[in-house]
Amino acid sequence: MRLIIAKDYQDLSRKAANIIAAQVQLKPDCVLGLATGSSPVGTYQELIAKYQSGDLDFSKVTTVNLDEYVGLDKDHDQSYAYFMRTNLFDHVNIDQANCNIPNGMDPDAEKECARYDAVIASVGGADLQLLGLGPNGHIGFNEPAEEFVKNTNKVTLTDSTIEANARFFEKKEDVPTHAYTMGIGAIMTAKRVLLVASGANKAQAVKDCFFGPITPHAPGSILQLHSDFILVADEAALSLVKDQL
Ligand code: F6R
Repeated sequence: MRLIIAKDYQDLSRKAANIIAAQVQLKPDCVLGLATGSSPVGTYQELIAKYQSGDLDFSKVTTVNLDEYVGLDKDHDQSYAYFMRTNLFDHVNIDQANCNIPNGMDPDAEKECARYDAVIASVGGADLQLLGLGPNGHIGFNEPAEEFVKNTNKVTLTDSTIEANARFFEKKEDVPTHAYTMGIGAIMTAKRVLLVASGANKAQAVKDCFFGPITPHAPGSILQLHSDFILVADEAALSLVKDQL
């Protein structure tokens, strides 16, 4: 694991965007694995700025997103498809025909998960996978469990995840209870993994996942085994491991 320490969220966003920008510049037809949630928003803003200043060209980039809520249409304003369009895709010159995300409206979980794994395989996996970290240590929506799940799967969101994501909805009851998520296998086969963690509410998960044992009870801990894993974390997210840096 390579640790890049950032001062705060803005600094973290700039540092993460620089790594993604280098990937796109060095391999213009790369595959980017992308995340939603609040952690990568600043990173996406930095990437948009780099595109606008002429430093980045997304025209040949393909993307595979981590996850989508089951039951939300791609035009629902809390769907992850909508999030990606409004936070990144609509603002850069990416061909949205090459942007992949699980279809939350397919009720046939087995079929949709198999389809999504086939999509990931067909593009050759991600060159760089961007991740956030759940306060409970989840990556994608791979929640703490007894075992790591390899393939794209349908998960029941834990109460703590529903609680954490309720801030994006009018009320907690509106948060979907299930999601389709890329499995640990696809995340681990990405050539490079970049995880951004910001804020004191991530400090325990950062400690458990990256400074403790590898266990499915802290799903992000599997990344300790990845040969090219970069953690960009700000001082608040690292506050519980200060003495180990
Ligand atoms: C999002 C995702 C999740 C989030 C995590 C952190 O696509 O897969 O794992 O990265 O829940 O969310 P934020 O960044 O909102 O704290």
